Amino acid sequence: MINALTVTAQALMEPSKGLLAMDESVGTCNRRLAECGIAQTEEFRRRYRELLVTAPGLSPFISGAILLDETLRQNTRDGVLLADVLRAAGILVGIKVDAGTTALADHPGERVTEGLDGLRERLARFATLGVCFAKWRAVLVIADGLPTQACIQVNAHALARYASLCQEAQIVPVVEPEVLMDGGHTLTRCAEVTTEVLHQVFEQLHEQGVALEAMILKPNMVLPGLSCGEPASLAEVAEATLSCLRRTVPAAVVGVAFLSGGQPATLATARLNAMHQPNQTSGSPAFELPWPLSFSFGRALQQPALGLWAGKDGNRVIAQNALLHRARCNAAAVQGAYSDAMDEEARAA
Ligand code: G3H
Repeated sequence: MINALTVTAQALMEPSKGLLAMDESVGTCNRRLAECGIAQTEEFRRRYRELLVTAPGLSPFISGAILLDETLRQNTRDGVLLADVLRAAGILVGIKVDAGTTALADHPGERVTEGLDGLRERLARFATLGVCFAKWRAVLVIADGLPTQACIQVNAHALARYASLCQEAQIVPVVEPEVLMDGGHTLTRCAEVTTEVLHQVFEQLHEQGVALEAMILKPNMVLPGLSCGEPASLAEVAEATLSCLRRTVPAAVVGVAFLSGGQPATLATARLNAMHQPNQTSGSPAFELPWPLSFSFGRALQQPALGLWAGKDGNRVIAQNALLHRARCNAAAVQGAYSDAMDEEARAA
């Protein structure tokens, strides 16, 4: 059965494609709708997600889409399940299965992700609905003395238990430990923390018997904190991120698909592109990457489309074009073929 899971994981990591993360919780989705002046109702969340999944021409760039449970039950205005629209386009359907984060007891400022209770049953139900991959996100904060070992360990353990339950249910786990960008930390500090987190995540995955050949890692890029006074160049981010991944991610993992974490959309694309430049990925056999590197972006794919839509039917086409454009740019980045000109031409058009 691991073979079938591996085939699915490989299909998700199909060369020059990535994942569309459209699994924002109801609260997060409502917040983003509100920022664009859109009503925060189930119907507007449905309309927005219909706009995304019906965008024509997405499948050459997108291999899979991660949905929220609510979206899995929703239809297009013509009564077709949104999940079936994706499947008809050749896009694999995934689901977010964590239940969000809660404050970690006795560890101020830190959070642990919940959702293991009843997960076996939920995964079995999702499998019958044709869901073939799932996602669980843990969040780690960098601050004075944070993250603590306690926080890293409980989150790594939960990620591993989730991944093991997914594989039992014949669902490919996408393992997402996110070191947040918030804070004034340097690129070096982010590298240290991300390295430690990934070491512990893979240790726990090993302890729980998770087959690395049937999972995808969804990490953060290694970046300076948002309020850090020392900016990092594209090459520095690429070098720091790839060094960290080479040191921590076993070669058996099927692929690495980055989250965007709130980076500006074009910058996330440019950084992904920088990681695929020949001086980063080759030059010496010792530096060849053992896994494909792709994207599983939420905001960096969707944000321009959401702003342009603004909740109005008349804006659907321009919003879908914006989504398609970001998908095309990121697919180019995965091949090291993105250039600013792609965005400049789009802006001019
Ligand atoms: O959990 C977060 C999403 O899967 C990725 O979203 O690219 O906006 O960070 P993001």
